[in-house]
Amino acid sequence: MPTPMDTGKRVGIAFLGCGYAADFYGPTLPNYPEIELLGAYDPASDRAKSFAAEYGGRVFGSMEEVLADPDVEIVVNLTPTTEHYSVNKAALSAGKHVYCEKPMTTSMAQARELAALAATRGLHLCSAPATVFSRSAQTLIRAVHGGVAGTPRLAYASLDMGPLAFMAYRDWRSSRGVPWPYREEVGNGCVLEHAGYLLTWLTAMFGPVVGMSAQTVTPFADQWEGVVDDVAPETSFGALRFADGTVCRLTIGWAAPADKSLLVVGDQGVLSVDDVWQASSPVMLRRRVHTSGRDTGYLAEPEQLPFVLPPLAHGYDDEAHDLTVAAGIADLARAVRSGGRPLLGAEYSLHILDVSLRLAAARSTEEYLDVPAPSATSLWGDRYRQPARISVPA
Ligand SMILES: NC(=O)c1ccc[n+]([C@@H]2O[C@H](COP(=O)([O-])OP(=O)(O)OC[C@H]3O[C@@H](n4cnc5c(N)ncnc54)[C@H](O)[C@@H]3O)[C@@H](O)[C@H]2O)c1
Repeated sequence: MPTPMDTGKRVGIAFLGCGYAADFYGPTLPNYPEIELLGAYDPASDRAKSFAAEYGGRVFGSMEEVLADPDVEIVVNLTPTTEHYSVNKAALSAGKHVYCEKPMTTSMAQARELAALAATRGLHLCSAPATVFSRSAQTLIRAVHGGVAGTPRLAYASLDMGPLAFMAYRDWRSSRGVPWPYREEVGNGCVLEHAGYLLTWLTAMFGPVVGMSAQTVTPFADQWEGVVDDVAPETSFGALRFADGTVCRLTIGWAAPADKSLLVVGDQGVLSVDDVWQASSPVMLRRRVHTSGRDTGYLAEPEQLPFVLPPLAHGYDDEAHDLTVAAGIADLARAVRSGGRPLLGAEYSLHILDVSLRLAAARSTEEYLDVPAPSATSLWGDRYRQPARISVPA
């Protein structure tokens, strides 16, 4: 199969939107010789100028100018989520392949309409996130498919980012100084912003989601008064059943302290990644072993699996964001040249969006128990009157 380099022509890309997230993309572009950054447009023209100055390409004067440029083959849509549908539609209508930041849209009806438009025009419609291309993800996926822990039965996956409401989010800036758009992020909620990061790994390992139940909560909604009117989910609990039978307890959130771990429990051992946010987080295997019966342990000491990919040469200059964002664009570019299918194509991206929207909407699945429910203090109050044995720091 010829690579884009074999054909001698790199795939021209242009960015629509040069805000905060664009600084995750720019530094990683040099990892992918198959793509050529032709330029960028942002109605905030200073942002497009600083983007082009930092990462290359030219400043386009309008979205229409980008869409009219025959050298632009892929439009990278980094506009705010509310703009995704109209910008994607305009780009597809102009004959461009689209790589859109997540969520692709905020409704399945819109996403299906876009997918149909792309199919009619013979174009690809892809959606971030692309962390599934990280060397951690690729190593874990191949280990699961290779059966190194036997048949997977259960997974525990968390993407708790820490309690956003108590962080200095107003001060966060990208490397070009673009402020983090906290109102949009909190208004979208942790699920639409982050569920895809884990769902892509999980579906790559276990196949599509075939059944699910979920709940969302907003534990710190009071902290956003005067900042965000309608606080979207701050934490989501999901129980997902995948096509291969694996069931996953999935937690997505920005209320609890950080926990970005993933555990795959197979019938021959356990695979784990401590931090799915870091592209090079080690993949550990603990094999099932015979035990003496004198203790409850059944797993051998952890061993690190060799990575199946080398580290990337170029990354975002920030310890907190070791992401492989531009890998999805490169995968799309290869599909454009080879006539193959991109991994994050419309069918796959629509499934991830579908599950994300279901997780985000799961606010009313709670069942109420018909029992008298005394408060914890009325149950335990008498104990508190006993002489204190534990000193609680003030
Ligand atoms: N902020 C993050 O940490 C982060 C990380 C990954 C992905 N994302 C996703 O990336 C997308 C963009 O997020 P962001 O944080 O960069 O937002 P942002 O608000 O910082 O930037 C969006 C930019 O798009 C521009 N824009 C609006 N309409 C446009 C149009 N029609 N054409 C071109 N530009 C237009 C705006 O002027 C703005 O500069 C969102 O979907 C978000 O969910 C955000």
